Amino acid sequence: MSSMLIAHDPLVNLPVATAVLDGELKILFANAEFHDLFGTIGKEATGQYIGAIIPCRELERNLTAVSKSGGLSEMEVHGPFNTKCTALKIVIMRILPTEGELIQQAHILLVIENIAEQLRHQEERLQADNIKAVELIAATMAHELGNPLSIIRSSFQYISERLSKNEDGDLSKFMQVVLENVDRMHDTLKDLCGFAWLDKCNLELEDIGNTLCRVICFLSRECEQRQVTVETIFDQTVPKIWADRHQMKQVFLNLIKNALDAMPQGGKLTIITERKETDAIGITIRDTGAGIAQENLPLIFKPFYTTKTRGMGLGLSVCQNIVRQHHGQLAVSSREGQGTTFVITLPTEKRRKQHVEYSSR
Ligand SMILES: Nc1ncnc2c1ncn2[C@@H]1O[C@H](COP(=O)(O)OP(=O)(O)O)[C@@H](O)[C@H]1O
Ligand SMILES: [Mg+2]
Repeated sequence: MSSMLIAHDPLVNLPVATAVLDGELKILFANAEFHDLFGTIGKEATGQYIGAIIPCRELERNLTAVSKSGGLSEMEVHGPFNTKCTALKIVIMRILPTEGELIQQAHILLVIENIAEQLRHQEERLQADNIKAVELIAATMAHELGNPLSIIRSSFQYISERLSKNEDGDLSKFMQVVLENVDRMHDTLKDLCGFAWLDKCNLELEDIGNTLCRVICFLSRECEQRQVTVETIFDQTVPKIWADRHQMKQVFLNLIKNALDAMPQGGKLTIITERKETDAIGITIRDTGAGIAQENLPLIFKPFYTTKTRGMGLGLSVCQNIVRQHHGQLAVSSREGQGTTFVITLPTEKRRKQHVEYSSR
């Protein structure tokens, strides 16, 4: 037994999760980092089959191969294995007994790194790069197409008015179709403009409840037509916040329109404003619509992700961009078949001041 301690002593202090397995892939020793990562307890883990803690066939295969033929193997395995570790990098090594040690058989050393955070950062960086690329395309398109489109629109409007005066009914109808489609293109461009952050951010002290009321009023006919009832629960003590009214309107419009799209058979839209802690406000937009499958939740904020035949897939990335520029957060929770809830958290003046003071230090 004492030779075990000698052999494993240096492993105890390693700053990464480490375990030693016997030839049957059972744990002989695991250090504190290992127990911390997998939520195991020293004595109970000893003798346990490694597959019970990290269930992965490929790991099992590699362990058996290294145990038989030696060498070194490095692999990534993806869980979740528990709430803490969802992705691991594992180095597998065969250790042979050195002369004088009581260990008779070759053992396997596992060095395990939790790479979940690393992967998350990588993913975030990748998404930021994607967003930059899309922003560039969006800015170019919005610039190149915006002006000619405005000219086309006003020219058609003029022709349409002249035709309606001449009571040329048929042509007038066609002109209406053209105008509607030009408007659709214009809306898409507006989405792109929001995405490319071309709209100047103009911060003013805003009553968010008021802005929400205007958006709801603007969409009230559409809600009625779609048989969606609207409930508003506004906390009157919510303080005003520094925000760009135009951009906030766009966020609320996008989220509410998505909610309406998710309730083709009608339903209920609930909009709540509330104080959050002492220095933030929360805006909840909840629908009783189709919901979003758990595996699709991470995708919905990605530019161009859409499940709609006529969707652009930019609405939510625009919302997230705008909310982030306001130092806030946009969170989502959803249940398929039951509905979706988006919560926007925005800092109040107090937190903004702290933020400015902190960043100017
Ligand atoms: N309230 C919601 N309920 C269900 N699905 C939603 C909701 N909001 C967004 N989604 C999903 O997220 C996708 C992306 O939304 P968005 O970025 O606004 O683009 P678009 O509306 O053009 O599809 C939608 O196509 C839809 O699949
Ligand atoms: Mg949308």
